[in-house]
Amino acid sequence: MGKLDGRVALITGAGRGIGAAVAETMAAEGASVVVNDLGASMDGSGTDPESPAQQVVAGIEAAGGKAIADGTDVTDFAATEALIARTVEQFGRLDVLVNCAGIIRDGMIFKMEESQWDSVISVHLKGTFNTTRHASAWWRQNRGGQFRLINFVSGSGIYGSPVQPNYAAAKMGIVGLTYSCANSLAGYGVTSNCIAPVAFTRMTESLQGKSTVMDYSPDNPRISAANVVPPVVWLATEECDWINGRILQCGNGRIGLFSNPSVLREVVTDGVWDLDTAFAEMDSSFREALLHPNPFARPRG
Ligand SMILES: NC(=O)c1ccc[n+]([C@@H]2O[C@H](COP(=O)([O-])OP(=O)(O)OC[C@H]3O[C@@H](n4cnc5c(N)ncnc54)[C@H](O)[C@@H]3O)[C@@H](O)[C@H]2O)c1
Repeated sequence: MGKLDGRVALITGAGRGIGAAVAETMAAEGASVVVNDLGASMDGSGTDPESPAQQVVAGIEAAGGKAIADGTDVTDFAATEALIARTVEQFGRLDVLVNCAGIIRDGMIFKMEESQWDSVISVHLKGTFNTTRHASAWWRQNRGGQFRLINFVSGSGIYGSPVQPNYAAAKMGIVGLTYSCANSLAGYGVTSNCIAPVAFTRMTESLQGKSTVMDYSPDNPRISAANVVPPVVWLATEECDWINGRILQCGNGRIGLFSNPSVLREVVTDGVWDLDTAFAEMDSSFREALLHPNPFARPRG
């Protein structure tokens, strides 16, 4: 018996990397899977004539699983509506949406081109909105199921990668979108959570030999895309109905649960703050709270 028997999952960006590993395992666990992938290059340009989505589907079918390939561009609002409709037409329902499609176009904030910003925001943030918007309309009409929204985010946003302001912003936008969905869709049987992965894929292969914190190499099993799969499949199960509005960090052999942001320390007035009092109270209270100042906040130069 599979962990996802009878469930229907749509995974965007599933032609390669982490999405492909998720699609293959979900199919092996009994889900019918829609493998979406445009086949874009890493900066989002072009399409791959070798159709990675079709290759993943061929592998799933060869292993006895059920899957269809789809080449929809997730940035296209109308096309993603058709994708959700096609999923339901093909497999009768949609239980799990995994938003994994992604590109990167790195650059420092002071050199970033408008097109770098727009394209990354478009694939990650708007793409996640597009599929979620249409899937949630179906979930609302078909309440009573155990529906799952699983969005891919990144440590790049959580910790603030200096060379990825566009990507960091898009991913933290997805965190906000996920929190909002966790509140708005819970009544329709939907849980909404994020995965912040680490894996050796084409997106991270340039880090090979450069990272001081982990061994980015194709031979390191801890950093395989397969190590991101278990928490995604876990969140997708019918039984996992009790975790909502959370971020899981996974990869490099670890699976972690982030705390959600909460107020660390506050100073309070009964009236209207005057600047001197507010400055003095914040200086004293917040300095004490931040015994270990955030290294990312340190000015350079
Ligand atoms: N690899 C990591 O360590 C890492 C770290 C943090 C976050 N992530 C996130 O995990 C997800 C998967 O990343 P990956 O490392 O497997 O990358 P990947 O490049 O191997 O796979 C991403 C896939 O998305 C597809 N795609 C791009 N634009 C698309 C579009 N408009 N419509 C449909 N498909 C599109 C690409 O064709 C590609 O196959 C991404 O959201 C990424 O931002 C990855």
